Amino acid sequence: MTLIKRNPTALKSWKSLESNFKNHAQKKITDYFSEDADRIKKLSLQWESFYVDYSKNLLDEKTLSLLTEMAKESGLNEAIEAYFRGAKINETENRAVLHTALRQLNPISIMVDGEDITPQIEVVKKQMFDFADRVISGDWKGHTGKAITNVVNIGIGGSDLGPAMVTEALEFYSNHLQLTFVSNVEGDHVEQVIKTIDPETTLFLIVSKTFTTQETLSNANTLRKWFLNHAPESAISQHFVAVSTNLEKVTDFGIAPENVFPMNDWVGGRFSLWSTVGLSICLAVGPKHFENLLQGAAKMDEHFRTTDFKENIPVILALITVWYNNFWKVETEAIIPYSQYLRNLPAYLQQAIMESNGKGVDREGKTIDYQTGNIIWGASGTNAQHAFFQLIHQGTKMIPADFIGFAKPLHVGNDHQDKLMSNFFAQTQALMEGKNGETVRKELSDQGKSPEQIEALLPFKVFEGNRPSNTLFIEQLTPNSIGSLIALYEHRIFVQGIIWNIYSYDQWGVELGKQLANNILKDFDGDKIDHHDPSTQGLIQQYKKFRK
Ligand code: F6P
Repeated sequence: MTLIKRNPTALKSWKSLESNFKNHAQKKITDYFSEDADRIKKLSLQWESFYVDYSKNLLDEKTLSLLTEMAKESGLNEAIEAYFRGAKINETENRAVLHTALRQLNPISIMVDGEDITPQIEVVKKQMFDFADRVISGDWKGHTGKAITNVVNIGIGGSDLGPAMVTEALEFYSNHLQLTFVSNVEGDHVEQVIKTIDPETTLFLIVSKTFTTQETLSNANTLRKWFLNHAPESAISQHFVAVSTNLEKVTDFGIAPENVFPMNDWVGGRFSLWSTVGLSICLAVGPKHFENLLQGAAKMDEHFRTTDFKENIPVILALITVWYNNFWKVETEAIIPYSQYLRNLPAYLQQAIMESNGKGVDREGKTIDYQTGNIIWGASGTNAQHAFFQLIHQGTKMIPADFIGFAKPLHVGNDHQDKLMSNFFAQTQALMEGKNGETVRKELSDQGKSPEQIEALLPFKVFEGNRPSNTLFIEQLTPNSIGSLIALYEHRIFVQGIIWNIYSYDQWGVELGKQLANNILKDFDGDKIDHHDPSTQGLIQQYKKFRK
């Protein structure tokens, strides 16, 4: 079964939400708390080591019940089953979407094209774990007999962002191996990395699902050339391994078959960190922690698959996004992790969310006349407080935000954690409550300001408040909790895609730029550029002048 195709705006629940919205437009979040003493109990969820508070939002129980009704009407129950079962829900590429199969708690058979994929997943995982153990222990040697000290991951998009983000997130759990990520096609990026590595002790992972990506192949070729200036051709097999679905192209590149870690086309690039694409993570933290990451994600999968929508964390959070995106007409959403380890979570989620749900055509191929993919941005707190929070607090736009924090620090013996937590809680409180004129007046008067000074300053010091947020409060940053957190966002993406009636697992929108870049590249050394538009012609001409 493929996905049901239903225009969400034609659903009965959508119409009810439109009228429900009118009741909320004039209300304040604080009013909901005054009206219902039990609001926090009703609008928060405790699951494993997660406490999710979604009470600071512009909605009430009626809204939530209409939103969950909308999820049902959209066919979400059937879609979830199709997703986990391996139906080809990525219809435009005729593929199943099975990153969940890579992290099953109790592995069961999953059939793709008549073949059970579960046994093969276990075989490949063992290959990856054995390899990681050998490199970490020093048993795997470089061509001069020295153990590996540095690992360079060469990949881009999903073959970079997920592994890089998780490697950084789990730095506390890492071993002695130094991980570096090269992604950009810009030569300066790879040259900068070359300065930091030793050809005798560096292992290169070429990670590319397709093995055709310009950036990755350019960087891989440059690094291979550099390596061969310091080592014989026969040394390649001790220093270069590849992760790909395209075994033919990998062989053409010169990687020995035993150094290839296969992946499958039923894993999308941006959801692939659980597969062999996560080899860099596995090397950085070791198989045990990698397994815990998988298990954390698997627990979230189970929660998502089996829990009633009203208590289902990914479903609730997805519906809240739809509420703001489609009824409040909000365009962006901020993600603020209160952990420096997660400083790249927003960048990772930008790809996961925007490449998935940035679509303007529905599942029937029709142009959409309602809003889909929201814009994701953010940075780690408390840095973000000193950067862009001014706009979130007092700007003219409403920006719902996810605040993510961990109760227990990883390093003990300092007094920072209470300060961090007080900031973490204070921000969502300030966003919701704001500060009214009366309070500002009193504060200024207590500071000895004159009535004229008070009136002049007052408008600038008032905070309207009423700005929504979710708090994802987690006991501690562990491989397990990070696995659950990432899986939470993956399923949230899925739910939104189902409701918006789009295909979340293709990415045709990145193709045109790649195609035109190839055309332009050919023209740099030719004489004819008049087939380009005048602006692009001007830029090409200018580039030719500059590069002389
Ligand atoms: O940017 C488009 C994209 O196809 C992403 O979806 C993908 O993660 C990235 O390029 C890298 O692709 P590959 O792993 O095939 O090199």
